[in-house]
Amino acid sequence: MTDALSRRFNAAQKIVQKAAEIALQMQPNPGGPKGFLKHTQNWLTETDGKIENFISKSIQSLFPEDGFQGEEEGKTRSGSLRWIVDPIDGTSNYARGRNRWCISLGLMEENIPTLGIISTPYVKEFYTARLGKGAFMNGYPIHVSDVKDPKISMVELGWSHVSKIEEFLKNAKAILNTGAMIRTLGSGTMSLVDVATGRLDGHYEMAINLWDVAAALVLLKEAGACISPFLESGGLYQMTPILTATSGIADILSKAVSIPLS
Ligand code: IPD
Ligand code: CA
Repeated sequence: MTDALSRRFNAAQKIVQKAAEIALQMQPNPGGPKGFLKHTQNWLTETDGKIENFISKSIQSLFPEDGFQGEEEGKTRSGSLRWIVDPIDGTSNYARGRNRWCISLGLMEENIPTLGIISTPYVKEFYTARLGKGAFMNGYPIHVSDVKDPKISMVELGWSHVSKIEEFLKNAKAILNTGAMIRTLGSGTMSLVDVATGRLDGHYEMAINLWDVAAALVLLKEAGACISPFLESGGLYQMTPILTATSGIADILSKAVSIPLS
């Protein structure tokens, strides 16, 4: 790893840790959702903007030449090294005082996901990955599960406000027909992270954005996951399907939901 990337990797971890403290302090208590609706069942809280702004300004002061793209403000700076942030992923969970949400910061070098830093403040887990250098949770190496039999597998089928009901049900049925048990827990990023740690054996989402996956793609690659060609299929610019799985059930899932793997 070049010095330039090492400096960014170290700085980004400190920035995300600070952002995690702020987000945790600001989280609403358990209860009905506290926030604003961007769209039916698509939540935004005051924290989303605050965290994106904090990370953007912190990165800008250290690395003014770098590009920056966030879920809330879009692409605000360009550069051959480009940071991609999801300030709160799982905002619907965050807004109800639930624990499944995270802050996700990825660095792409010429469109190659290179660094990934993800913090889950409520459950105190901190994930880091560098291309070619492994993936870690709280400093310990992580790896996909060794599950080979779909009948003992657990797979998440992501749901969001853009999911079409018929398509969602068709894919749920196809996944259930493999023998897998399914989950759908409201944070696409966390689900990808769970595949990287082996807590899930696969994740499929019919349409997801770059900021949800940019950091997790590095974790998944380094943790040995099979991944569909998300970026090559348009994921840099628009919502795109993603399938990722441990190799033992990857082909079965790929056939079930008709999504090829790279
Ligand atoms: C959403 C969550 C959700 C996924 C959506 C995302 P947000 O992000 O990750 O699980 O299904 O595709 O947009 O709104 O919580 O940042
Ligand atoms: Ca998100």
